[in-house]
Amino acid sequence: VAAGRRGAVALALSRPFRADDVAYLEAFPELRLFARGDDVLAARGALPDPTDLPLSPFLDEPAPASPEQGFALARRIAERAHVPESDFPVACIVETTSGRLIPGVNVEHPTWSRILCAERNALGTLRSYGIDDPVRMYLTCTREPGCTPCGACRQLLAELTPEAVLWMDAPMPEGRSARTADLLPAFFSGTALYRTANTRDAA
Ligand code: THU
Repeated sequence: VAAGRRGAVALALSRPFRADDVAYLEAFPELRLFARGDDVLAARGALPDPTDLPLSPFLDEPAPASPEQGFALARRIAERAHVPESDFPVACIVETTSGRLIPGVNVEHPTWSRILCAERNALGTLRSYGIDDPVRMYLTCTREPGCTPCGACRQLLAELTPEAVLWMDAPMPEGRSARTADLLPAFFSGTALYRTANTRDAA
């Protein structure tokens, strides 16, 4: 959604789809998906648009030269947010050390607990594509200048990109910035969980 692409024709999962996965996806009628086997959902009647390929996570834009440029780009990307429930668009753009940009927008669902925030969508893309060098992020809520990440996003930002600097689109001309780990002091860290999992794997 953040890449501005439409017309997905199939979804494949690393495990069989569950009924709640299908129920979730059915809330996006434009996908027109139906089950083909246990782990593939395909769109009825649609064909791939060759101009839509390849699927790249990066924006075709140069790295912003200033926070203000980063916010201007984020505001443009926020127009892609899928916000039928709240009409409250949010966009988060992640910049890597080499100046590549990965976008995320909020994607809403009638069941509010299933709403995906812009920041976590961007982080999900980062992980999915194995991008491990984020340095900077630009966050905008176009209807609420000065907004900051929600608690769940702060937790994931602190866990996955603790050193990245988050620029928040605030009314002051230069915005407001923070190291992401500083946005959630004493954040939960599951070090012992990872240790347990590794011990289990080794055994
Ligand atoms: N939202 C985000 O995308 N990021 C945040 O950090 C806070 C909230 C979205 C979720 C929902 O679609 C809308 O903003 C209103 O809560």
